[in-house]
Amino acid sequence: GPSLDTLAKARGMRFGTAVNGRPAGTDSGSRANPAYAALVTGECGLVVAENEMKWQALRPAPDRFDFARFDAMIDWADRQHLAMRGHNLLWHQDKWLPRWMATHDFGRDRRRAGERMLVQHIETVCRRYGRRIRSYDVVNEAVTPATGALYDTALSRAIGGAEPTLDLAFRTARAAAPHAQLVYNDYMSWEPGNDRHRAGVLTLLEGFKARGVPVDALGVQSHIMTQPAGSDATAREAEWRRFLDAVTGMGYGLVITELDVRDNNLPADPNVRDRAVADYTRAYCDLMFSYPQLRDVLVWGMSDRYSWIEGFEPRKDGARRRPCPYDDRFNPKPMRDSLAAAFAAA
Ligand code: G3I
Repeated sequence: GPSLDTLAKARGMRFGTAVNGRPAGTDSGSRANPAYAALVTGECGLVVAENEMKWQALRPAPDRFDFARFDAMIDWADRQHLAMRGHNLLWHQDKWLPRWMATHDFGRDRRRAGERMLVQHIETVCRRYGRRIRSYDVVNEAVTPATGALYDTALSRAIGGAEPTLDLAFRTARAAAPHAQLVYNDYMSWEPGNDRHRAGVLTLLEGFKARGVPVDALGVQSHIMTQPAGSDATAREAEWRRFLDAVTGMGYGLVITELDVRDNNLPADPNVRDRAVADYTRAYCDLMFSYPQLRDVLVWGMSDRYSWIEGFEPRKDGARRRPCPYDDRFNPKPMRDSLAAAFAAA
């Protein structure tokens, strides 16, 4: 049958996934899994590096870049004719900046030095890859979910605030990669408990507009989770539409950047979980795909085998998580059918 990307392309959309360089065999090679690489190339039209383009990967020291792992991955993607998204140019949280940043001495003119460091990072990355990367998560997760306020970091404190830091990131990216779609990427979702997070993201996006900051789209990460039986799907969908209407009403595009599904509130039986995850995925995609502003859809891993969720939030009953369209032996799951059906219906 047709690949997910082929089905997406028939609707003017694209399908892709995050790729981890170890199993893909683009870095050390010792843990390479050719079956995983084949799954990615067989289903996808675009990819994004799960970790290899982050500051923590590229900046071992303040005065040194290390592009080896990401270069290997983008070279591989080019050979496979896969488009590459850039993730990310600034993850605006202390714990996801390089460890040396916390104690970095910005000197007497902290503002100038902080600005220089940020500009240098973004210019260096954007110029190195040029037109090979046509969409960047310029800023990742700047909003505190519990309050909606912007985080501060060692870097933004040097620069003199979160707002000027994020603005500078986007302005620098626009100048250094004028061909690229510039995305603000975050994980506010349609589930209960996300009100403040959504409100904070809207405030941020309004501020970008008001200040003329060049941001093209909202990256809707889409780390979603199945809800308890009897949860109010109608209310959830109405609230989510209100949010997406507000975002698109300001003129922003949408990208699904990191879709996966946490099988919460479900019994251990894998068949039961896979069915519920597939249905939840279908409802989510049907809603999202109804927005013509959405073109690119990426999952955060094609196979349960390498999903980050197992390490981040294992199930309490010890059953392995099943968040991805393929299982840990690379067999397609009902979630894969849901994606295919949602593209066909889009
Ligand atoms: O590579 C080192 C290894 O050398 C070291 O021995 C080991 C010990 O902890 O850590 C390894 O690095 C880990 C890295 O993944 C590669 O596996 C980091 O600890 C770990 O924190 C890192 O987690 C990644 C996380 O972002 C933080 O960067 C996940 O794989 C990745 O899936 C996750 O992706 C994020 C997106 O970037 C943004 N949105 C949310 C999404 C999920 O959290």
